[in-house]
Amino acid sequence: MKKWNVASVRAAKGVQKLGCCTAYDACFARLADAAGVPILLVGDSMGNNVLGYATTLPVTIEETLSATAAVARGAKDALVVADLPFGSYQCGDDRAVANAVRCLQAGADAVKLEGGEAFAPLIKRLTTAGIPVLAHVGMMPQSVNAYGGFRKQGKTSEAAAQVMRDARAVEAAGAFAVTLECIPSALAAEITAALKIVTIGVGAGPSCDAQWLVMHDLLGLNETPPPFAKKYAALAETVRGAFAAYVADVAAGRFPA
Ligand code: KIV
Repeated sequence: MKKWNVASVRAAKGVQKLGCCTAYDACFARLADAAGVPILLVGDSMGNNVLGYATTLPVTIEETLSATAAVARGAKDALVVADLPFGSYQCGDDRAVANAVRCLQAGADAVKLEGGEAFAPLIKRLTTAGIPVLAHVGMMPQSVNAYGGFRKQGKTSEAAAQVMRDARAVEAAGAFAVTLECIPSALAAEITAALKIVTIGVGAGPSCDAQWLVMHDLLGLNETPPPFAKKYAALAETVRGAFAAYVADVAAGRFPA
């Protein structure tokens, strides 16, 4: 299989729907990559799924860099995208570019950032500097405090028009793809039809060009997944069972044999 890059992701629009997911370490990145997942996102959802935080907000650039390097070591063909964590790009454009550069130096092929029209100048600066950007509009989890909770976005006609403006702005600024999170399915379909770049939906219905699933939801490791997620395995039960069997074997003298 050939290594995915931003050009092949762009070329997939209208040709091939892409099932993409998150990864946070080399072991799972290797497995997902071998299974043909085209884009691996080192998501800041690592905060909830791996690091034990309640939200994505405490994730640091150092944690992101370490996980990105691990995923890049595990992935061979997948495009590896580092999710810029909260505070790493809302801190002035010079520091944002420096942090994005560190992500590419750690092994990422591109960075993702949350923000629409307001972040278009930064996206332009990053892409001009040779740093591919995957944008993220609609519900932006790093803005949870501004929303007053995790809420579906784009529900009124004004809000929908703003999400459409955001999507058009990030495309015009040079993003090679855009995440549409938790917006009405009809709005996601409209944006997907209006843009030339790939839309990657998460809780945004079936019309997007591609989908994200958080790895822990996909594998059934998260026991409280969001309602839109689909579980393709039940690893929480399997893993708990394996640990319990091991403890029981040692206690009963069955291991080591
Ligand atoms: O961090 C994350 O998991 C995300 C999702 C959109 C996949 O940003």
